[in-house]
Amino acid sequence: MFTYDPGFTSTASCESKITYIDGDEGMLLYRGYPIEQLAVHGDFLETCYLLLYGELPNTTDKHKFDHTVMRHTMVHEQMSRFLSGFRRDAHPMAVMVATVGAMSAFYHDSLDITNPHHRMVSSIRMIAKMPTMASMAYKYSIGQPFVYPKNDLGYTANFLRMCFSIPCEEYVVDPVLERALDRIFILHADHEQNASTSTVRLAGSSGANPFACVAAGIACLWGPAHGGANEAALAMLEEIGTPERIPHYIARAKDKNDPFRLMGFGHRVYKNYDPRAKLMQQTTHEVLNLLGHRDDPLLQVALELERIALHDEYFIEKKLYPNIDFYSGITLKAMGFPTSMFTVLFALARTVGWIAQWKEMIEDPSQKIGRPRQLYTGAPKREYIELANRA
Ligand code: SDX
Repeated sequence: MFTYDPGFTSTASCESKITYIDGDEGMLLYRGYPIEQLAVHGDFLETCYLLLYGELPNTTDKHKFDHTVMRHTMVHEQMSRFLSGFRRDAHPMAVMVATVGAMSAFYHDSLDITNPHHRMVSSIRMIAKMPTMASMAYKYSIGQPFVYPKNDLGYTANFLRMCFSIPCEEYVVDPVLERALDRIFILHADHEQNASTSTVRLAGSSGANPFACVAAGIACLWGPAHGGANEAALAMLEEIGTPERIPHYIARAKDKNDPFRLMGFGHRVYKNYDPRAKLMQQTTHEVLNLLGHRDDPLLQVALELERIALHDEYFIEKKLYPNIDFYSGITLKAMGFPTSMFTVLFALARTVGWIAQWKEMIEDPSQKIGRPRQLYTGAPKREYIELANRA
């Protein structure tokens, strides 16, 4: 007996103890802790520890984990030559898919997925090196020299410095921007069995190494229906341009014959406000106020679009609310990131979720290779016709 469930809208692919979402309540828990509390009171590496090990770290464990991660931040020096094979205008997500996949060509000493030590070393390496590789993809795209990590900085401060410092002058990390970006990373860390996490699990179910699995996850995240929506949402806000043009785009979003959708709206699971979007909106206001962009026209368009959509019968009936991607682009743009880097930052943050879910799957005694079936509606059995006898 088979079920046919396109998009797996009602199919559980696995059992997991990591993240719980109540889409009707708009609730998101990492290992039982509400995202609102983790994002306000903790930092990203604490969330990484929680997702990987299942409990919040005590002081000793936190210092040890942070120290370990911050001492795996360098990548093999030949990785920089690997990047030089790309055109400078290559999309940073294309670079990330390639360079993360290539990690399995460099780190042969932690590829045995049956070995718990190898699994943990690969997990730490992935979390620690993603900021370095993401900053290299950015620096390469703008023709600036790569910046080596500084281990005496925090995880997110180190990433900001690797992206925005230049050899000619000292770079001082703004603590407000550091805190805002660290919170953005927490909000993006995991989200149960979304498309990219399911991709990582499916790739890992064959026994593929974790670097290759995360590269597959990055490829899936790139799509505009998923992690690519933050880049697409900002492009949409820029195309709308002014609040006066919003009704035209709302009408297009409702038009069945128009493929246009409001990017940053709607969600497979949330049929209430995405709790991450609320926190993202707060962070957006903090960053724009700090940077003096409080009158950013994009924010005005976003706020008016949200107000109109939340009162529109179509969006109310279909339970379409802003999701995490609706505000993140405005914030990241104000911080100085180009739109092409938005999904890279999403991938950087989601790496811990992918790795935690991959690790849980490998350690699940009931785990087997994923192999869905199909509903076949093709041609019935028929005999081969020689070329000379075909019409
Ligand atoms: C992420 O899964 C996750 O957890 C993902 C994520 C994570 O953290 O990993 O949360 C991150 O990917 C967030 C989503 C980002 N994507 C976007 O913002 C792109 C725009 N949104 C849509 O493409 C859509 O809402 C999805 C892909 C997010 C969800 O699509 P579903 O669940 O398959 O819903 P659907 O396409 O069946 O839509 C249901 C109805 C449809 O109308 P009907 O055919 O029933 O008449 O709602 C309409 C859709 O046309 N609809 C929209 C809409 N989203 C859905 N109409 C206008 N604008 C939209 N954005």
